[in-house]
Amino acid sequence: ASVTIDLQKRKAISPVLFGIFFEEIGHAGDGGLYAELVQDRSFDALAAATGFLDSPATRKPLDLATLAARHHHAMLPLHMPWDSNGRSYSSKREYLEERRRNTSYDPRNDIIVAWQPLPGTTAVLTKEQPLNEHNLVSMELTAGTGPHSGLLNFGYWGLYVQAGHNYTASLYMRNPDEQPKNVTLSLVGEHGATLYGTLTFSGVEGGWRKYTAELASTATDANARLLLQFDGPGKLVVDSVSLFPSENVAAGSGMLNPWPFRADLLDALKALQPAFMRFPGGCYIEGDWMRNAFRWKAALGHNEQRPGHMNGVWGYWSTDGLGLFEYMLLAEELATEPIWVINNGVAHGDSVRTADVWPLVEEALDSLEFISGPPDSQWGGVRAAMGHPEPWTINYMAIGNEDCGKPSYLTNYLLFFGAIRARYPHMRLISNCDMGPDAPTDLWDWHIYTNPTDMFKRRNEFNGKTPQNSHHIFASEYAVTDGGGWGNVAAAVSEAAFMTGMERNGDIVTLGAYAPLFVHWNNRPWPTNMIVIDNSRWFGIPSYYVQQMFSRARGSHYLDTTVATDPGSQVHQESVAASATCGSPACDRINIKIINFSSMQQRVAVVLTGEGSDAVLGEGELVYLWSDHPEAENSFDTPTKIAPATATMDGLSSKFVLPAKPWSVNVLQLHLG
Ligand code: AHR
Repeated sequence: ASVTIDLQKRKAISPVLFGIFFEEIGHAGDGGLYAELVQDRSFDALAAATGFLDSPATRKPLDLATLAARHHHAMLPLHMPWDSNGRSYSSKREYLEERRRNTSYDPRNDIIVAWQPLPGTTAVLTKEQPLNEHNLVSMELTAGTGPHSGLLNFGYWGLYVQAGHNYTASLYMRNPDEQPKNVTLSLVGEHGATLYGTLTFSGVEGGWRKYTAELASTATDANARLLLQFDGPGKLVVDSVSLFPSENVAAGSGMLNPWPFRADLLDALKALQPAFMRFPGGCYIEGDWMRNAFRWKAALGHNEQRPGHMNGVWGYWSTDGLGLFEYMLLAEELATEPIWVINNGVAHGDSVRTADVWPLVEEALDSLEFISGPPDSQWGGVRAAMGHPEPWTINYMAIGNEDCGKPSYLTNYLLFFGAIRARYPHMRLISNCDMGPDAPTDLWDWHIYTNPTDMFKRRNEFNGKTPQNSHHIFASEYAVTDGGGWGNVAAAVSEAAFMTGMERNGDIVTLGAYAPLFVHWNNRPWPTNMIVIDNSRWFGIPSYYVQQMFSRARGSHYLDTTVATDPGSQVHQESVAASATCGSPACDRINIKIINFSSMQQRVAVVLTGEGSDAVLGEGELVYLWSDHPEAENSFDTPTKIAPATATMDGLSSKFVLPAKPWSVNVLQLHLG
């Protein structure tokens, strides 16, 4: 094949083309990027799972055997057989996938039971004397006759603790008895027998009070437990039991809550150098029902003031420890453009009539004041009180997710668009529908999930669209989900080809993001995800490295690039994709991306034409990713089996040959002298 690049024919392209999309799916936040180690710190998930949260009852005695069985079920590895509601599945994954397709399932049945009362302890969920008006459920424990009464928390498939590290525990306790009690918190091994660290709160008495102390761990264990014990007889009521690495608590100084992000995963995101971050959904912002949609005002203030909500589409409880404040903090930390997606009154199962949607419009306007208003404004003041007096900048907001055509979407959209545009004229607003060039929108949201062959063809998806015949496009979700394993090389190479099409049409495609970003290995409701995590490790699938390679070789201008196939080639015609960009203002650094979507090595003849092509310096840097096994994947054990390698190419001029390995993505940076 040959690739011809015309240095004269160039057009300006979007400076924010490649970004990320963070959604609370697959424990991306809770149990993932969010650094809280205790699962279900406020017992709301347990209350939802047992039907207590929504019931008028004020007390719910817990049946320990049922809880234990349900907990055991949730902890089974994904490849184990699985049964639910009388049906058997060959694996938990099969179950999760069916659940995704089945709109009538009850997500509360999937909530993981993370708390286990110790044998002999009577555990009752109670709404009596709640901790505060937002945190209505607490756990009342009554000591048995034996010496050990209390509760165990399993974290997110184990708590990860490290020898020599400190963890800051905080919890609220109420002692309804006359007799003061001593309460012990310990880090222990899986079966509770090995002690890694312990502390005692002595003389706990009276009404609700917060207790905070540090626990030092003597061991490293990714499957540890948090054990709360108290001396009987009598009762103890607890709520908001939290454990963060002490570094997070220190880093959060000046803010209401500990620094929210797990350090290694934050670094994984930084390495992507995203130009923007779309958040927090996805279906997450819609909810299975409106009552389960993400609402930013319920995710403000101290953690113990946040009620949390059922993440009904993805089947787990959201603590809302990641709220709008934390998402903006994340965007700031990544030095990236925030793209805040709001629910405009449309969920999967229901919607708000346009006549009734105005309160949601006001909520959206308030969110912009919260983000960007001065500290003396109402909502800017709330932000300042949370520890960020400086206003943030926001330029993009998406109104809804995948809701085009759903009842009320368009009419609700128009109200949101009008109100936001009137108060914040600079905001670039994103609709779910391609409404044609004259419609009231700045960008429209486009999604694709497909197989590698189709993804490769989709490099031509946007050809022919121009600012004259279309609104700008936000390709906010794209990925190979069929035939790509957990994320294999063929999938990544085809996505790279698609991304060359984004660059080619970078005057009309403004933003694009792979989806989803994170998944916890023990809960995978979506087939492929860019970064796979557990509580102590992560690895990027090959697509992660493709994203890095494209981000690091951005250009301000697209250079006309044509691909031709040798007439006599044995390789299928449609197997090479390419794009070239250059950096402004001198356009003297050229980024050439050449994709080989085939199992044969291809000698690609690269020809630069036009003024400046004779000034190509002899040496360039090549970054490439490849495998001769299209199904090759990374894993926790071999996290970088498929990762970019670098090489220096010399002997370059206006004509040279790039030997493109099978199933490869090649990014060559060359310079004009
Ligand atoms: O990325 C996973 C899901 O795919 C998103 O939540 C949704 O927008 C799309 O259907």
